[in-house]
Amino acid sequence: MVKAKWVWITGGSSGIGLATARECLDRGDYVILSARDAQKLQQVCTELNAQLPSPQAFAYALDVTDVQALQEAWEFICGHFALPDWIIFNAGTHTPTSIDSLQPSVFRQLMEVNYFAVLQGIHTVLPRLRAQRRGTIAVVASVAGYRGLPTAAAYGASKAAMIHACEAFYTELQGSGVKLKLINPGFVRTPLTDRNAFAMPCLMEPEAAAKALVQGLESPGFEVVFPRRFAYFLKFLRCLPYAIYFKLVQRLNG
Ligand SMILES: NC(=O)c1ccc[n+]([C@@H]2O[C@H](COP(=O)([O-])OP(=O)(O)OC[C@H]3O[C@@H](n4cnc5c(N)ncnc54)[C@H](OP(=O)(O)O)[C@@H]3O)[C@@H](O)[C@H]2O)c1
Repeated sequence: MVKAKWVWITGGSSGIGLATARECLDRGDYVILSARDAQKLQQVCTELNAQLPSPQAFAYALDVTDVQALQEAWEFICGHFALPDWIIFNAGTHTPTSIDSLQPSVFRQLMEVNYFAVLQGIHTVLPRLRAQRRGTIAVVASVAGYRGLPTAAAYGASKAAMIHACEAFYTELQGSGVKLKLINPGFVRTPLTDRNAFAMPCLMEPEAAAKALVQGLESPGFEVVFPRRFAYFLKFLRCLPYAIYFKLVQRLNG
């Protein structure tokens, strides 16, 4: 029998994070969910636990951009529950942007949540994981970080920065006993993508995304992508010279 895991998921009250929590609970794992809205988080955990013989979903509310709160959360989780086997830095946000109404503050805010908070999270958990030579850190970035896309300048830049940092860390962590996984989803139907005013190609349901995410965490290798067809198409775009890339994006953008 496979031993149940302890899984800490930031951004666990909605969308991909919540679906991943459900997937982990279905496997018999224990989940600790974090998000800012404490009431919603508690309600989510109550609903998740209602399906189980004994509680396996626990709430710890925090804002991931609060450095001290992040450290306190980590101490609490390790002290009261267990050293998590998987830490999924999934909390993130998106604000569509346009050059016509350029707001540097929006870029700053997305960088804070999608990039600096994850870096801070890695900084917080790594010493203990390294000391025990175990654990998996999963960072949820996005295929939007592969290349510049219209209306996603701020979001894409924050995810590109995250992908870049993880590529560097991956090599540096070899032999440490700590695994780093980069999760790059395509479009998944969640409150975050409800903000997109365009038809999203290959849109995936959160349940299918969560299955692919968990399967990816169990597999060897660095990057986990879903849906694969769309991700591989974007990987192909990444290789194109600018002249062809811009023409193609313009055509796809209507
Ligand atoms: N959906 C997609 O198509 C897609 C594609 C690629 C990548 N992603 C990435 O996947 C991750 C999850 O996205 P989603 O689509 O599932 O979004 P979502 O449904 O909007 O969920 C976002 C979660 O993050 C939490 N959160 C946001 N800001 C936070 C903060 N400062 N501190 C703590 N928690 C915070 C939210 O709860 P509170 O508001 O209560 O804090 C919520 O639980 C994000 O990193 C996103 O960029 C999504």
